[in-house]
Amino acid sequence: MSSLTNKRIILGVSGSISAYKSPDIVRRLQDLGAEVRVILTAGGAKFITELSLQAISKNKVHNNLWDKDAELSMGHIELAKWADLILIAPASANTIANIANGKACDLLTSVILASTAKLMIAPAMNQQMYQANALQTNLDILISRQVSIIQPESGVQACGDTGLGRLPESSDIANQVAKQFETTQLSGKNVLVTVGATIEPIDPVRYISNHSSGKMGMALVDRCIEMGAKVTCIYANISIPLNDKALNIQTLSADQMHESVMSHINQQQIFIAVAAVSDYRVKNLSNQKIKKSSDNLILELIPNKDILADVCKLNKKPLCIGFAAETQNILENAQIKLKNKASDVIILNDVSSDEIGFNSDKNQVIFISQNQQQNIAKNSKIKIADNILKIFIKEFL
Ligand SMILES: Cc1cc2nc3c(=O)[nH]c(=O)nc-3n(C[C@H](O)[C@H](O)[C@H](O)COP(=O)(O)O)c2cc1C
Repeated sequence: MSSLTNKRIILGVSGSISAYKSPDIVRRLQDLGAEVRVILTAGGAKFITELSLQAISKNKVHNNLWDKDAELSMGHIELAKWADLILIAPASANTIANIANGKACDLLTSVILASTAKLMIAPAMNQQMYQANALQTNLDILISRQVSIIQPESGVQACGDTGLGRLPESSDIANQVAKQFETTQLSGKNVLVTVGATIEPIDPVRYISNHSSGKMGMALVDRCIEMGAKVTCIYANISIPLNDKALNIQTLSADQMHESVMSHINQQQIFIAVAAVSDYRVKNLSNQKIKKSSDNLILELIPNKDILADVCKLNKKPLCIGFAAETQNILENAQIKLKNKASDVIILNDVSSDEIGFNSDKNQVIFISQNQQQNIAKNSKIKIADNILKIFIKEFL
């Protein structure tokens, strides 16, 4: 089934009598997982109220290019950048003419000019208006600019005429929008990714951690989202930006990360354990800063729970991908991990080289499952993430 999970849609509502159907279009887009913001033209506002659209979209309705508060931070440019797709439904003959002529005469047309997002329009008007040469020429111009036209339906119209020009059913419109994003191979899947490096406190100012930057984990979060998954990102100690389309949960220690993973794992179909989790923690955590002295200081470390192994032991276990950072006997150790933890996949990361692995923007890994072992050549972490997911999807989904 098509999905709009993680997709941000601007719905432009212009001055057609069928604008009364626009709250239902918002609903159908939301049903498919989209976040919807509405731009209402002056014409559109004659047929449907801002309040109805605001209540249904759960977002402020934008209707004024000259909004002083919004323009303090260039509101129309922000909106243009926010959208993955702009849908105008219904699209009036007047708005179609304005877009075809590159006008920026109101908020909707200005946002369209300022956006690189895909544009779809659903013309809706009297059958004679729809047949008019001027309207058809404007549609041809838009088609030549890769604008998708949602074809109107034929039937009895509000004015009493019969013919082509009716707005299609809201669910048909929403499905046609979703089709634009259909390459998404993880649509409808919930994916939990752990990212970063856990921190094990010694005292209030000192801790034990590791060199993981979180870049490989975030690359996987980003790619899963682009592939249509609903992602939960449980992270610790990262200084790179989070993806605001994921549900982001901050943790600190291995224990906290374990607890957070376990409380979110039931809803997941896929678990990707990328975080570098500390194997040990300090047994006797000091509440006060440990004072310097000339004596040796001995810290007793006790093992942490193994998050990947515990997830793999669950009765209703998701498909699991674990990362193994190794510096010696790398293949042998990764095979042992695959078996002992009962993970579906282990991604072997040789972190002995400075050029790849921890903190670097590049990586080079080996994909290991029971059925295969594939080298994934050195590349940017986003490409590595893409390759890992493609191999995984081919074998398991
Ligand atoms: C009662 C009424 C119904 C209208 N219905 C339509 C319509 O279905 N489609 C259309 O293109 N224009 C229709 N119009 C004309 C537009 O509302 C008008 O061109 C308006 O300026 C469009 O503004 P906008 O493109 O900024 O939204 C209608 C006008 C009236 C008074």
